Amino acid sequence: MRRIPIILFIVLIISCKNKVNNSSPIEVASVSISTNDSNEFYKKQLENALVQTNFMLKVAEKVNKIPRTVSNDGEIHWINNEFDWTEGFFPGILWYLYEFSNDKKYLQAADKFQRSFEEHKKFTENHDLGFIFNSSYGNGFRLLEKENYKEVLITAANSLITRFNSEVGCIKSWNVDKGWQSKRNWQFPVIIDNMMNLELLFKASEITGDEKFKNVAISHANTTLKNHFRDDFSSFHVVDYDPITGNVRSKQTAQGYSDDSSWARGQAWAVYGFTVCYRFTKDEKYLHQAEKIADFIMNYNGFPEDGIPYWDYNAPNIPNEPRDVSAATVTISALLELDTFSSKDYSSYTDKVFASLASQNYTAKLGENNNFILKHSVGSIPHDNEIDVPLNYADYYYLEALLRKIKK
Ligand code: GLY
Repeated sequence: MRRIPIILFIVLIISCKNKVNNSSPIEVASVSISTNDSNEFYKKQLENALVQTNFMLKVAEKVNKIPRTVSNDGEIHWINNEFDWTEGFFPGILWYLYEFSNDKKYLQAADKFQRSFEEHKKFTENHDLGFIFNSSYGNGFRLLEKENYKEVLITAANSLITRFNSEVGCIKSWNVDKGWQSKRNWQFPVIIDNMMNLELLFKASEITGDEKFKNVAISHANTTLKNHFRDDFSSFHVVDYDPITGNVRSKQTAQGYSDDSSWARGQAWAVYGFTVCYRFTKDEKYLHQAEKIADFIMNYNGFPEDGIPYWDYNAPNIPNEPRDVSAATVTISALLELDTFSSKDYSSYTDKVFASLASQNYTAKLGENNNFILKHSVGSIPHDNEIDVPLNYADYYYLEALLRKIKK
């Protein structure tokens, strides 16, 4: 557990309060990282995030809802008790701030907000249980080892594996009987994002000793490795399978620019997912896959100088296309873990992205940006949804990455 020096924290809070009241927030971020004070630089970003999230927490506690993003009207989009794939990230942010500060206020708030969606552990209508429960109860269990958190994780993992089809070898991502997915002629769509749900399964096997969860995760990872990647290790977004034969029906996109393009967050989910698979299995093929995806991301010709990708690497109007900060934060968090397994060194890339994220281009001034930490993410351009906005998961993976960095 790490504590923020109390004097620094009080000074920060007082100065922020004054400046925010005067509508002239202070600048906490800086873009230059010198080698001597680099840990201080990352801690400063965490302290900044802590102050900003305190503002968010006050508002969230008032309405008793979980913030997701900012809507077109400029107001916070609150999650209204519906099953939402992003609902775990706000409690997850609070768990990370508890880990950083050791302040029980964050623990209590994380516990309260995650309990608001606990019943979703029984939901079997899509694949998002890993995103939701790993970021919330998964972090809570890692820090507190509470029995009831364990039960929630196991129930969620059992719900997730109901979607596994052994002919295909994968967990089905989306149902195709209603909504926009029903208009795509898919039968068994699997999206690259689904790699992020496997951590919950690996953990469930670790906790219970029951290999069934891990076996599903390994089958899903192997099938994805076989079918989801192009020769250059970029990833398709959606692979649709025949649920009877297990054959691939099509390779397409849902959130990217085109079927053949590289949707930025998809590449990020891919490198993160295979890094996690290596963490739990130590199977070299997953390490190799993660390294190759990382190479594709880091060496992509046409990537912006500051390392923050456009929402799709092949978006048609680059450089006049929105960036996706969420893709950047997921990627650096993954690369910080990959760096611990690989003989390759990812630090110059991650340091560059951290420096960009900490600049005023991407880090909001305290009290602005509806109290989200980072600006400029993209949910889904083809769905005309959440374009150039803050997103709770961009902030979550940023905090995860900062904590990974200061623990190194
Ligand atoms: N399905 C998660 C995402 O939009 O990246």
